[in-house]
Amino acid sequence: MNRPIGIIDSGVGGMTVAREVMRQLPKEEVLYLGDTLRCPYGPRPFQEVRRFTLNMIRFLTEKNIKLLVIACNTATAAVLKEVQSMLPIPVVGVIHPGARAALKITKHREIAVIGTEGTIRSQAYDMALHSIDDRVNVHSIACPEFVPLVENGMVNNQETLQVIYERLAPLRDMSIDTLILGCTHYPLLSPLIELVMGTQVTIISSGSETAREVSTILHYSNRLYTGDRAPQHRFYTTGSSEMFNRLTYEWFDQGIKYIEHIELS
Ligand code: DGL
Repeated sequence: MNRPIGIIDSGVGGMTVAREVMRQLPKEEVLYLGDTLRCPYGPRPFQEVRRFTLNMIRFLTEKNIKLLVIACNTATAAVLKEVQSMLPIPVVGVIHPGARAALKITKHREIAVIGTEGTIRSQAYDMALHSIDDRVNVHSIACPEFVPLVENGMVNNQETLQVIYERLAPLRDMSIDTLILGCTHYPLLSPLIELVMGTQVTIISSGSETAREVSTILHYSNRLYTGDRAPQHRFYTTGSSEMFNRLTYEWFDQGIKYIEHIELS
């Protein structure tokens, strides 16, 4: 099917998912939208996250996407079910894929989840994990400082390491073997998170499992692209397109040629 995949996030975090989708599905075209202007979503009330997310979805559905990925845990926790029943196309969130990946890896069923305040408050990971295996112990911590650090490009310095060290201190005293990065911004911090948590803890980010789910759904619903045109990915941001330019240059093999600043209302 010759239509693009839409991916949304509150900012740059969803690029960790977009990158995996492009890697696993190289023929598919991606339209990415990051609501950088209104990031972070994590501390906002549920109704506001819902409204902003529906704004983003309207923008992309008008561009005739064939599948939507809500590449934001906070937005997934707030509106996934509603959007799934509202749209005529498949809608994939990032929470179930992350939970599945963690359950595949854990040896002792001691799993920690870190995420935004909204995601942790929603208990969406606890529910997703227990819906598959109710013997698992889930330890959750909200990390409100992490998203602003990523959005400001502070992903690899001493100050960030110190913030992560202090925030994750309670988890280091627990016998967890698996840590879910329950926010799509956090994989950008994963070298530092790994350093803090040590090698006995496996770090899970939902990007690759989500991309696998997208691939499976496209295949079973007969939506895979079958032509031979090279994909023209388009990235949209409500914030600075320069910042998107810089990040996509670092993050995607050949950068992203089409980046546009847009306004949402
Ligand atoms: N990347 C997002 C998430 O996965 C949201 C971060 C934020 O806007 O607070 O939750």
